[in-house]
Amino acid sequence: MKKINLLGATGSIGTQTLDIIAANPDRFTLTSMSAGKNIQKVSEIITQFKPKLVSVMNEKDAVFLQKEFPDITIVHGEEGLIEAAVGIEADVLLNSVIGSVGLKPTLAAIEAGMTIAIANKETLVAAGDLVVQAAKQYNVPLVPVDSEHSALFQSLNGENPKRITQLILTASGGSFREFSRDQLQHVTVEQALAHPNWSMGNKLTIDSATMMNKGLEVIEAHHLFAMPYDQIECLLHKESIIHSMVEFEDTSVMAQLGSPDMRVPIQYALTYPDRILMANAKRLRLDEIGKLHFEKMDFERFKALSFAYDAGREGGTMPTVMNAANEVAVQLFMEGRISFMQIEDIIEQVMDEHETINAPSLEEILETDRITRKKVYGIV
Ligand SMILES: NC(=O)c1ccc[n+]([C@@H]2O[C@H](COP(=O)([O-])OP(=O)(O)OC[C@H]3O[C@@H](n4cnc5c(N)ncnc54)[C@H](OP(=O)(O)O)[C@@H]3O)[C@@H](O)[C@H]2O)c1
Repeated sequence: MKKINLLGATGSIGTQTLDIIAANPDRFTLTSMSAGKNIQKVSEIITQFKPKLVSVMNEKDAVFLQKEFPDITIVHGEEGLIEAAVGIEADVLLNSVIGSVGLKPTLAAIEAGMTIAIANKETLVAAGDLVVQAAKQYNVPLVPVDSEHSALFQSLNGENPKRITQLILTASGGSFREFSRDQLQHVTVEQALAHPNWSMGNKLTIDSATMMNKGLEVIEAHHLFAMPYDQIECLLHKESIIHSMVEFEDTSVMAQLGSPDMRVPIQYALTYPDRILMANAKRLRLDEIGKLHFEKMDFERFKALSFAYDAGREGGTMPTVMNAANEVAVQLFMEGRISFMQIEDIIEQVMDEHETINAPSLEEILETDRITRKKVYGIV
């Protein structure tokens, strides 16, 4: 029985993780969880899965839940999020919270010696060096949940990492893949939230539309697979069937394929190195699909992807700044306070004005994150 502490249980990845736990009651149990503000869903999850500890964002929600569920521990806020990660002993922390708020709980779980199944890419972008260094120090596996990184991880099974020539991340292109930059000037939040292939949380869907998601993934891949940026490529692949590929010195390319279904990489992260039956999953039928398409990535059209390569190559606190600026800008776009194209403008301005701190400490990263957020609100 694998004990799982789950951050972001009410979200898209969190809900699908719960589906996997529910489908395999003899293998997995939910020991602790966190959520944000969706208290109705939290109540349903507690009733069904009976975790020992639950963290929510706000104190008043915690007080309400404690009255409803007197037998379990209810905590709240940033400290609560850390408690949800490590307050109850478990084998795995599945971190599917959104944003760099996932950083401190991830580090705490690493120090507690738990396996980290990581969906929360913002944490790896904001502080990838620190997280990877800590995982090495405490000898803790960092298992990817993101479909692209899971595909790379699976393609690298049993391979010699020294023989890799390229990691190739595939990209669906998001909601606006057919739009020119001119057409992007007046797009709405509703249009941005209509992803053609995947059903995901709102922030990630907007990140896919700006292509910042692929940028975050490039930095995530750099950290997870210790690969230089010059050896990480992105390829537009509209069908989202090939989830990513690895090219080796002998020119062989290994890929992982499947119908777009996030439960597959989530489950693999929980059962690795084993695989188990996936209930109600659509098997891949290439004869029905017929053709797969690939296009070179257009860095002029998708400026956010260039920002990510620039930030990654610069290193230090620059990726932290890019990530924090993006988190706030996306939030402001969703609130209707800025246009879609202003997301890029804001990130570019804040990155231009930042003086990088090299090899930053955790305190410097947290402070940079805080100042950047304030700065973006100031600009707007
Ligand atoms: N969705 C996907 O298919 C997918 C694929 C690959 C990677 N990822 C990555 O997985 C992570 C989660 O994505 P998602 O799409 O599942 O996001 P999501 O649906 O928006 O869910 C986010 C979760 O985090 C909680 N949350 C939000 N802000 C919080 C805060 N400040 N403090 C504590 N909890 C907070 C939310 O709680 P409430 O809803 O209760 O407020 C929810 O449980 C992201 O890093 C994303 O890039 C997602």
